[in-house]
Amino acid sequence: MKILSISEILKIKNIKKFKNKNIIIIGWIKTQRHSKIGISFIDINDGSCINNIQIIIKKNIKNYSKIIKLTSGCSIKIKGLIIKNKKKKNYEINANHIKILGNIKNPKKYPLSPKYHSLEFLRKISHLRPRTTLFGAITRIRNTFIFNLHKYLQKKKFLLINTPIITSLDTEGHSKMFVVKYNNNNFFNKKSYLSVSGQLNLESYVCSLSKVYNIGPIFRAENSNTKKHLSEFWMLETELAFCKLKEIINLSKNILSYCSKKILKNNKKDIYHLMNLNNLNNINHIKNIIKKKFIEIDYYEIINILKKEKIFKKNNIKWGINISTEYEKFLTEKYFKSALIIKNYPKNIKPFYMKINKDKKTVSCIDIIFPNIGEIIGGSLRENKINKLDKNIKRNKLNKEKYNWYRDLRKYGTIPHGGFGLGIERFIMYITKIKNIRDVIPFPKYPNYSNF
Ligand code: 4AD
Ligand code: MG
Repeated sequence: MKILSISEILKIKNIKKFKNKNIIIIGWIKTQRHSKIGISFIDINDGSCINNIQIIIKKNIKNYSKIIKLTSGCSIKIKGLIIKNKKKKNYEINANHIKILGNIKNPKKYPLSPKYHSLEFLRKISHLRPRTTLFGAITRIRNTFIFNLHKYLQKKKFLLINTPIITSLDTEGHSKMFVVKYNNNNFFNKKSYLSVSGQLNLESYVCSLSKVYNIGPIFRAENSNTKKHLSEFWMLETELAFCKLKEIINLSKNILSYCSKKILKNNKKDIYHLMNLNNLNNINHIKNIIKKKFIEIDYYEIINILKKEKIFKKNNIKWGINISTEYEKFLTEKYFKSALIIKNYPKNIKPFYMKINKDKKTVSCIDIIFPNIGEIIGGSLRENKINKLDKNIKRNKLNKEKYNWYRDLRKYGTIPHGGFGLGIERFIMYITKIKNIRDVIPFPKYPNYSNF
């Protein structure tokens, strides 16, 4: 007998094929209703999609007295027939055998009673929150996103490189890194850390394989207790040989558009469930990305806009400042009402590896900023001339020796190249409208919190 998932059942076109054929379905109880005349209706979900399926159970079934005592969260295996509910135009299961797999011993103590739970509360029970409709939806969207990042890049012939998680090098220059030790000793005979970015390792591979990427965990020990920072998060990093900034911009836009399209296609119901929770009746924010509605603008133009704004008069805005969260919000949500691709930042506020432009003041880079979220992508061309790279290392007061292997890449057959890093959780926040990044990663880690 075939085990079918709810999503498989809902996709059945020709119900006649299933006439008089028992199927098996396994899932967890969401809700249940028992009528006085001896029929019970149990809605179950199995995670394959957001929909539940209704199981109809008649009094004459074995175990009936036990079945009607089951509560939300119990797991059951059902053997039965698929029938069409003509009124509701959906499928139901007429059960003829039910096996109770996992009971809930003390339902009053089960933390996930069917009432409303705040996201803060659910975060404390991260091991149980996947059982909620909300976290099911987020999880399926995250899965579609990451799968399609791989799919897009593989189609474009990028090679997957698993960059190291333990490293002795700081990619960004002055990052706060978690130290890796064993019994308080430097296990590797050298100070080692959890990686803040696999970019430098990708650069080693791009210098022979031309198109490479990784999707991996990133660790940052910044004490940022905000709604968009995690201490452990996931990043897509790409690296492309022989490219100009324009190609990096295009790759960023195309990959976001492609994945948004796939999410909308595969997870339509999940998306609409999330929009409903936000009292939103449209998905324009996703459509804008699919249509690649980004405004491309130079850093200096952004500064000129901010300078003219009365509300920021007191802030002493001048060329060279960082574009803070406050300015990002103003630009994307009020001024342009669009996602922005900001190009060519001053070299002094960007890492040492970025390629300096002809003006000698700015670097060839982009930050992609989204409404309500902030930075989603950071990318750049990399300095590929050894003398210029050495100057950058010196100006940034970094230890040249430490970067020797990275410098080798410029000494032996150097090539122009560049790439970007995309924060997986930041993009999922944008798509799902979930306001705290801690709710779009399965087990969040942040300052003072590393449960699970
Ligand atoms: O801008 P970042 O720091 O860039 C890099 O690490 C480059 N080495 C990437 C590259 O060019 N290969 O980080 C890239 C993205 C950010 O735009 C943001 O979306 C996300 O990673 N990000 C974070 N996401 C969650 N929590 C944090 N603490 C994050 N820090 C950065
Ligand atoms: Mg950045």
